[in-house]
Amino acid sequence: MIVGVPKEIKNKENRVGMVIAGVRALTQGGHKVLIQQNAGAGVGITDEDYRKAGATILESAKEVYEKAEMIVKVKEPLPEEYPLLREGQILYTYLHLAADERLTKALMDRGIVGIAYETIQPADGTLPLLAPMSAVAGRMATQIGASYLQHDHGGKGMLLGAVTGVERGNVVILGGGVVGINAAKMAVGLGAKVSILDTNVARLDYLSDVFGNEITTLYSNSEQVEKAVSKADLVVGAVLVAGAKAPKLVTREMVSRMQPGGVIIDVAVDQGGSVETCRPTSHEHPTYTIDGVIHYAVPNMPGAVPRTSTYALTNVTMKYALMLANMGWKQAVAKDHALLKGVNILNGKVAYKQVADDLNLPYEPVRL
Ligand SMILES: NC(=O)c1ccc[n+]([C@@H]2O[C@H](COP(=O)([O-])OP(=O)(O)OC[C@H]3O[C@@H](n4cnc5c(N)ncnc54)[C@H](O)[C@@H]3O)[C@@H](O)[C@H]2O)c1
Repeated sequence: MIVGVPKEIKNKENRVGMVIAGVRALTQGGHKVLIQQNAGAGVGITDEDYRKAGATILESAKEVYEKAEMIVKVKEPLPEEYPLLREGQILYTYLHLAADERLTKALMDRGIVGIAYETIQPADGTLPLLAPMSAVAGRMATQIGASYLQHDHGGKGMLLGAVTGVERGNVVILGGGVVGINAAKMAVGLGAKVSILDTNVARLDYLSDVFGNEITTLYSNSEQVEKAVSKADLVVGAVLVAGAKAPKLVTREMVSRMQPGGVIIDVAVDQGGSVETCRPTSHEHPTYTIDGVIHYAVPNMPGAVPRTSTYALTNVTMKYALMLANMGWKQAVAKDHALLKGVNILNGKVAYKQVADDLNLPYEPVRL
C-alpha cells in the first residue's frame, strides 16, 4: 500500500503522524511511505532521517494526497485539506466528528474511509489511541492552570500548592478518566487540594484506592458540580461519553459564581466542551476571560509538546496502520473489532452511531 504522511497545518501543531520506526516497519513490510517535506521538523526528525528509513519525501501536501492510498495524520483535516481527499482513500487520524458538522459532511462528500483514532475501542471499553494524548493533556492542564493562576498571567495570584501556613489552591476535576487522573497526579504533586467528580462509581473507587486521602472523590451531579465549582481556583473539564458531544456540566451561572482570577481548562473542548462558556481557542490565542474567569480551551494541547506526544501517539497508532496497510481496511476491520469501532465515515455515510445521533445525520453501520 502507498501510505502518505502530510505535514500538520493546524495552529502550532508540531506533531507528525509517523516516526522513523513506523516508516521502517511499513517499508520492511513491502509498503511505500510518502512523507511531506519538513513534516517531522517539530519533532526533530529531518527529511534525511525519513529518507534513510526508506521513505520518499514529497514537496507538497497535494502530491502526498494525490498518490497515497492511506493518509496517516494527527489532527482532523482542515477546510483547505478537504479538496485534497480522494474517494476510497483511507484517512486514519483523530477526527472528533461529533463536534464538527462541517468536517463530517466534507468527509462524507469526499467518499473517504474515515477511521478515527479516538473511537478505536477494544472489548474492555478503553480507548487506547486516545489515552496517551489524554495523559499528556491531563498533565498539561494542571501545569497550564497553575501558570495562569499567577497574577502576572492574569490569574488571582495564587501558588497552587501554597507554602506552610497558607491555604492551598483548590483544583476541581470533572471526569476522572485518563485526563482526570493525570491532571490529579500533577495537582497532588504540587500540593493542591484536589476533588474529582465522576458518574462512574467504580472509577471513583479506583481513584480513591490510588490516591487515598490526597483527593476527594465526588459523585457527579448538578448539585455537586455547582458546589465544587463555586469553591474552585482551577477547574479542569475532563469528561467524555465516547464519540458523543461532551455534557455541559458547568453552566454560565456557575462560572459567574467563581472568584475572579480563577481558571478553567476545558480539555474536553475537542468534543464540544464541558463548560457552557467554553469555545475552542488556539495555541496562538489560548485564553479569554468571562466574568473575570480565565478560560483555556485549546483542542490540540499535546501539539505544544510534540516531542513527547508524537512518540506517545505513534507507539499506539502504528499497530493498526500496519494492519490497514497489510490487509486493506475491509479485511482489517473484519479481523479486529476494536478497529471496526474506529470507522466513522464510509460510503458517504456516518458509520458511528453517536456521531450520527449528535449531528442528526443518517447512520449506516459498517456491513462486512
Ligand atoms: N484538548 C486536548 O488537547 C485533548 C487531548 C486529549 C484528550 N482530550 C479530550 O479530553 C476528554 C476526556 O478524555 P479521557 O481520555 O480522559 O476520557 P475517559 O473516557 O478516560 O474519561 C472520561 C471520564 O468522564 C466521565 N464522565 C462521563 N460523564 C460524566 C459526567 N456527567 N460527570 C462527570 N464525569 C463524567 C467518565 O465516567 C470517565 O471516567 C475527551 O473529550 C478527549 O477527547 C482533549
